[in-house]
Amino acid sequence: MAGSERPIVIVGASLGGAKAAEALRGAGYRGGIVLIGEEHERPYERPPLSKGYLLGKEAREKLHVHPPQWYAEHDVTLRLGTPVVAIDPAARTVTLADDGEIGYHKLLLTTGSVPRRLPVPGADQDGVLYLRRVEDSDRIKAVLRPGARIAVVGAGWIGLEVAAAARAAGAEVTVLESLELPLLRVLGREVAQVFADLHRDHGVDLRFGVQVAELTGADGTVGGVKLADGTELAADAVVVGIGISPATALAEAAGLEVDNGIKTDQHLRTSDPDVYAAGDVANAYHPLFDRHLRVEHWANALNQPQTAARALLGQPDAVYDRVPYFFSDQYDLGLEYVGYVEPGGYDRVVFRGDPATREFIAFWLSGGRVLAGMNVNVWDVVDPIRELIVSRRVVDADRLADPAVPLTDV
Ligand SMILES: Cc1cc2nc3c(=O)[nH]c(=O)nc-3n(C[C@H](O)[C@H](O)[C@H](O)COP(=O)(O)OP(=O)(O)OC[C@H]3O[C@@H](n4cnc5c(N)ncnc54)[C@H](O)[C@@H]3O)c2cc1C
Ligand SMILES: NC(=O)c1ccc[n+]([C@@H]2O[C@H](COP(=O)([O-])OP(=O)(O)OC[C@H]3O[C@@H](n4cnc5c(N)ncnc54)[C@H](O)[C@@H]3O)[C@@H](O)[C@H]2O)c1
Repeated sequence: MAGSERPIVIVGASLGGAKAAEALRGAGYRGGIVLIGEEHERPYERPPLSKGYLLGKEAREKLHVHPPQWYAEHDVTLRLGTPVVAIDPAARTVTLADDGEIGYHKLLLTTGSVPRRLPVPGADQDGVLYLRRVEDSDRIKAVLRPGARIAVVGAGWIGLEVAAAARAAGAEVTVLESLELPLLRVLGREVAQVFADLHRDHGVDLRFGVQVAELTGADGTVGGVKLADGTELAADAVVVGIGISPATALAEAAGLEVDNGIKTDQHLRTSDPDVYAAGDVANAYHPLFDRHLRVEHWANALNQPQTAARALLGQPDAVYDRVPYFFSDQYDLGLEYVGYVEPGGYDRVVFRGDPATREFIAFWLSGGRVLAGMNVNVWDVVDPIRELIVSRRVVDADRLADPAVPLTDV
């Protein structure tokens, strides 16, 4: 019988995995914990890779989730540079790339996500760069020099944050986006326009509604971008940020239910009762929204593992019902967003403050209820915005728009 002397195994040694190990120890679990990751760097956080670290303002040592000695001090076996290649749910084992096998008592998958590749000719040349890992950030940093011509494909979070870092380094930046505005699916037209204006004001050449047909170059090194309309742009490097795919291959091969990520219940338990999932890879049932949600943001990878850890230790009240939250920094604009809105899932946007000043709060409403809010260069308002969302009460839009009225009173 695979007894409780078998360890809890966590696959994916990044923010989610490291926080799960911490939460297990925090909950008093004294059994074995094996944290397995394919990267060679000990668990680190990714947000600085497109901001402070890329800008050269934040040191590499600051990226890590825990100091090096933390793992031994907490009796967590950290296996880095070790891809897991298979899970056998019946035998409760994971197989490592070196053919080693580890039995588990419970398994947590925090395998995260991987960047989507640009499916055009020439995309495999040197100088075509993606951003997920610390070494990717190092490669991009190396090409962000004064006067360098940087083409960025995708005006999502990666594209815009890299564009801001590239401008700060003095590079010439062109952003190529297939939709009509940046961040359109997340923010909708009204608020997305603020980001188009922001980047134009900082000298970025933004091209919307364009299709990249080919990456040109010579001798295996990228030299430019050819668009579907025949336009050609010269580029010393091309940074691609066109979204991610959840890393579900292991789970799928193991027969777990996978649909836009690994499907879990509100306890973050997968279709196999001994296997849990958290972070970018988890498509978790969210009781507040009464639907499954897969959230590709830092706070989710920070907080979900606490619920997963408690749930897999058998605590039935461990339910993940936090409202999604994320942040971004671009130039001198800082923002926080709390809530969740599907594309087209709102009927009104209310601004508190003038978006042209880039100091405002935007609210997305449906039927008079606040679904989400984003504070831009306005601080300490996330709690009351979250409260508006959770309470589901109908608000007075005029009062919501009036900065003189406290958010607790709209
Ligand atoms: C450049 C960048 C900037 C970001 N900035 C922000 C931000 O400002 N705000 C915000 O809210 N979010 C931000 N995010 C998103 C945030 O970083 C992610 O949501 C978060 O990293 C998800 O954590 P995770 O642990 O679930 O997965 P990941 O961070 O993807 O980690 C998964 C780990 O599992 C490993 N792994 C996968 N498969 C296997 C396997 N078979 N065997 C062993 N190991 C495996 C991977 O190598 C990886 O190390 C940013 C992301 C990036 C890339
Ligand atoms: N501040 C933050 O929260 C932050 C910062 C960086 C990264 N991230 C996370 O990292 C992940 C990757 O970010 P991302 O920016 O790559 O994804 P994204 O989903 O945020 O944006 C992708 C963008 O690329 C566009 N696009 C897709 N295919 C295209 C194509 N062929 N040509 C041109 N444009 C195309 C999309 O319309 C979209 O605007 C996401 O999970 C994101 O949440 C978050």
